[in-house]
Amino acid sequence: MNDLMRKKDLATVVAQATPLKRTMRTFDLTMLGIGAIIGTGIFVLTGKGALTAGPALSVSFLLAAICCGFAGLCYAEFASMAPVSGSAYSYAYLAFGELLAFVIGWDLILEYALQAATVSAGWSGYFTKLLQGFGINLPVELTAAYGTTPGVTTYFNLPGFVIVLVITWILSTGINQTKRMNDIMVMIKIAIIVLFIVCTVWYVNPAHWKPFSPYGWYTFQPGSTQPMGILPAASIVFFSFIGFDAVSSSAEETVNPNRTLPRGILYSLAVSTVLYIAMTLIMTGIVHYPDFAKFINAPVAGVILATGLNWLAVIVNIGALVGMTTVMLVQLYGQSRICYAMSRDGLFPPLFGEVHKKYLTPFKGTWFFGIATALAGGFININVLFEMVNIGTLSAFIIVSAGILWMRKTQPDAHRGFKAPGVPFTPLIAIVFCFVLIAGLNWETWVRFLIWSGIGIAIYFVYSRKHSALAKNKTSAKAATQTQQ
Ligand code: ALA
Repeated sequence: MNDLMRKKDLATVVAQATPLKRTMRTFDLTMLGIGAIIGTGIFVLTGKGALTAGPALSVSFLLAAICCGFAGLCYAEFASMAPVSGSAYSYAYLAFGELLAFVIGWDLILEYALQAATVSAGWSGYFTKLLQGFGINLPVELTAAYGTTPGVTTYFNLPGFVIVLVITWILSTGINQTKRMNDIMVMIKIAIIVLFIVCTVWYVNPAHWKPFSPYGWYTFQPGSTQPMGILPAASIVFFSFIGFDAVSSSAEETVNPNRTLPRGILYSLAVSTVLYIAMTLIMTGIVHYPDFAKFINAPVAGVILATGLNWLAVIVNIGALVGMTTVMLVQLYGQSRICYAMSRDGLFPPLFGEVHKKYLTPFKGTWFFGIATALAGGFININVLFEMVNIGTLSAFIIVSAGILWMRKTQPDAHRGFKAPGVPFTPLIAIVFCFVLIAGLNWETWVRFLIWSGIGIAIYFVYSRKHSALAKNKTSAKAATQTQQ
């Protein structure tokens, strides 16, 4: 039973050599983070958020940002202590041992691959609209997964499927190309959001901000089971911040990771928070919050139409597409690197850890998950995908925060390039926030999550426990001792 708790040794982990190329700097990592963060959340979820919290949606964004900020500090400390691929998976291996590490790695598939699948569904909606603007109409059956839009017969999200495969091809052929492309797309995304802010701020009517918080912190409307207020809206817009932790999964491709990683995480979180709060204040100042029901799936476009700036709508539509593309790019990148780390540790088959001789990327693993993600986005309803992403991410945040508490106690002298301030309060606050946000999810999501984790545990006992590199090291050490005797 002890093997379930077998842990990696921090010094060995840090010394572990890697064949991946080190090319990422603070700027690239910040771009990588923003690339993963700003996307579906601001372009799609703000509509539901405004209906749930009213103009106080900006406070919900702030709360979600604070939760992610505290968790981000914990991620940053771990990343600076063990700058290796694998994010929460690698950190759990150091702090809590192999079984929990495997379960978290397995759950990270929810966060990374399913999130990219979810975003591919949102991307498909914007892409279809853009094509319609040029008079091209795709068969409606091929624009979304089965059952996505009530009253409309859809079977498969073809545009989403194709874009995921295109991204997979780019990722599998090398980080340099990816980095350059990501940097450019993220700059376009930021420029378009700033353009939106500058052009529309003049149309704000402060009367729309009254009442600022029509539902308070948490309440139920008569006859409804849907909670309303600032806290439930924070649970929704939490999605908008997921992604910053993908930065830490690129540790082995980062120059000076001890300094660069924490900066990348915190800078990308700070930039996104400022943009989100400015945007939501403007949006709820232009459109009175109950009116967001009219354009719940495209709230940003709806706000622009309310100003009459139709030319801006086309540009922002393209910006939304670019924004969502970068989110998928970063998520699929993070996914392949986590599987790379798990394979190197023997917990996943060697296929996922093979590095391509020419491209120096985990080529086969990238394609395996790229195809799986494309199929998931093609066939599974976006609403099911979204909630699973949320619960997978929040559980990873909890483990990482708890891991910081544990490592400070058990390995107080380990070298930390960055030390999270305010420990133990910082991780404790992150954990409490995560539980509050999880409490806002429905029970079906909990059940699905438990089933998913159960499948992961079964795989661990059938395959990973025996193939673990730690298990093999022990066996070969034993054999060597016996031979010497
Ligand atoms: N945070 C990412 C987005 O909002 C997932 O699209």
